Amino acid sequence: MAQVEFRNVVKTYGAFEAVKDVSFTVGDGEFVALVGPSGCGKTTTLNLIAGLLDITNGEINVGGRRINDLDPKDRDIAMVFQNYALYPNKTVRQNLGFPLKMRKVAKPEITRKVEEAAALLDITHLLERRPRELSGGQQQRVALGRALVRDPQVFLMDEPLSNLDAKLRVQMRAELKRFHQDLNATVIYVTHDQLEAMTMADKMAVMSGGVLQQYDAPERVFSEPANLFVAGFVGSPAMNLLPASVEDRGGTVYAVGQGWELPLSPRNAACAKKASGSEIVLGARHSTLLLHDTETPDAIPAKIYTVEPTGDLTYAHAEVDAKTIVISTDPQRRIRADQQVWIEIDQERLHIFDAATEERIPPD
Ligand SMILES: Nc1ncnc2c1ncn2[C@@H]1O[C@H](COP(=O)(O)OP(=O)(O)O)[C@@H](O)[C@H]1O
Ligand SMILES: [Mg+2]
Repeated sequence: MAQVEFRNVVKTYGAFEAVKDVSFTVGDGEFVALVGPSGCGKTTTLNLIAGLLDITNGEINVGGRRINDLDPKDRDIAMVFQNYALYPNKTVRQNLGFPLKMRKVAKPEITRKVEEAAALLDITHLLERRPRELSGGQQQRVALGRALVRDPQVFLMDEPLSNLDAKLRVQMRAELKRFHQDLNATVIYVTHDQLEAMTMADKMAVMSGGVLQQYDAPERVFSEPANLFVAGFVGSPAMNLLPASVEDRGGTVYAVGQGWELPLSPRNAACAKKASGSEIVLGARHSTLLLHDTETPDAIPAKIYTVEPTGDLTYAHAEVDAKTIVISTDPQRRIRADQQVWIEIDQERLHIFDAATEERIPPD
């Protein structure tokens, strides 16, 4: 397996810049999820590594070797696609063996490798079937097996689970994670699903508009989002974001929003004062908010819009002026639409963002 290094990589399609000066390093044996909304440049990035697209600027190194000008077939990289791309008229055994046959590997060696991969992926009993005789999950395993037999330096996967139903997706998610652990493989995995990225990856590369927004372990991306985009993208329900102005009133610093104000704790006041202007955005996850039925000091008045029970947790959607805030509550609790409530914020877990730069202002 090998390390993959992106150095100031740029990809343009005509005048359009799809990947903008992206730099990051995937360690040997690491599982990195490239995650972001549709159109942010994930597939383009993956195709640059695979050699399906030319790099406009910058360089990509795999195992210390610059691959910009290498032919795709010489890159020693295997790709697993969303639509599996299996040959319909070949059996599973032939599908698995095909990349080796193309490389003129000796027949006994092909048989050995195919059977090894099939055993690992638990598809030995399917070897003589054709793709149409397999379920979606089984086809996905064959596609994975076809990458595996090549024993590549790097596995690239582009939304490999998005054609599966929800239950199977969760199961395959666990299988893929296990597959990575067993093989110690270097994997770059593209998904638009932040939960998939959070649960599977050693590191997340969060992209938006062709720009790498943050590259960190999932826990870090969740607890210390670099900017407003990452804060709103990672976590479900999304982080509540409330625009506010900073006002220093004789020593006490207030965040003042539409129809509410909040005296900031010393820690948050210090952050707010570091903003480039007087405008900030408060970021609070649903689990860091407490609902009160009666007026409470330093709690924000709001009105319940709707209540969503999910079983383990109930999500209360409350309106603060024109903004909706989501608060998780105990399912036992009685809350009704149009009820007046007060929202208390756990300031130890509150994030302060600079409204002008959109960056998070970390506490000292
Ligand atoms: N061949 C192409 N020509 C022009 N624009 C393209 C081409 N391929 C992709 N794009 C554009 O580049 C951006 C990134 O695309 P893509 O990498 O496929 O995004 P993702 O995989 O994150 O959904 C999109 O805006 C897309 O429309
Ligand atoms: Mg894509």
